[in-house]
Amino acid sequence: MEQITLALAKGRPAKQTISLLEKTGEHFPELTEESRKLVFHNLDQSIKVIFVKAVDVPTYVEKGAADIGIVGKDNILESLADVYELLDLKIGKCKFSVAGKADHQPSDNQKLTIATKYPNIAKKHFKKKGQPIEIVKLNGSVELAPLIGLADYIVDIVETGNTLRENDLSVLEDIETISTRLIVNKASFATKSMQVNQFINQLKRALE
Ligand code: PRP
Ligand code: MG
Repeated sequence: MEQITLALAKGRPAKQTISLLEKTGEHFPELTEESRKLVFHNLDQSIKVIFVKAVDVPTYVEKGAADIGIVGKDNILESLADVYELLDLKIGKCKFSVAGKADHQPSDNQKLTIATKYPNIAKKHFKKKGQPIEIVKLNGSVELAPLIGLADYIVDIVETGNTLRENDLSVLEDIETISTRLIVNKASFATKSMQVNQFINQLKRALE
């Protein structure tokens, strides 16, 4: 049987995904959270796991470098990747929100400045509302932007709400809920349908 390649996101969600993989009955002897290795195989070599940056998982899957990816909906949406999303793993739950200082008065009501790590998601949201915006693309610590006048508001992930609270910011509007999803390369879904479906079913049973 042909091998399937599974791209997993490094970082926060990796721990939960690894324990879920263990529950599928597939064992990856060298796979541990502490390991710096990036490629792992299960015992019969039918599954190859590669660890990549979360933002890159949709790219690996869209290009066919991986058949399957497990990654947050945030990265899937932002990537605009053309892939099948087939399963919600219901872990890594959080949401996208618009946030800012509760009493903020934008200096230009025509065009709001939005700081975000997720320009595509922010653009889509404000376009739907008919609100023109200017994006300030940041790569982290986005909550600083409204505090120091770099932006009117932010579009970012809210999980516990602690980062917002500790910086005196509030959620002004929720955009969409996020969780970890399984995505599949469109060609692999046809050419390796047996392996792909078998893996998805194993995962579904592990999730029960
Ligand atoms: C993420 C996200 C928020 C925060 C949300 O940032 O961008 O800032 O976590 O979590 P909370 O609601 O539980 O506080 P992260 O810690 O990944 O850092 P970064 O944005 O600087 O990359
Ligand atoms: Mg952050």
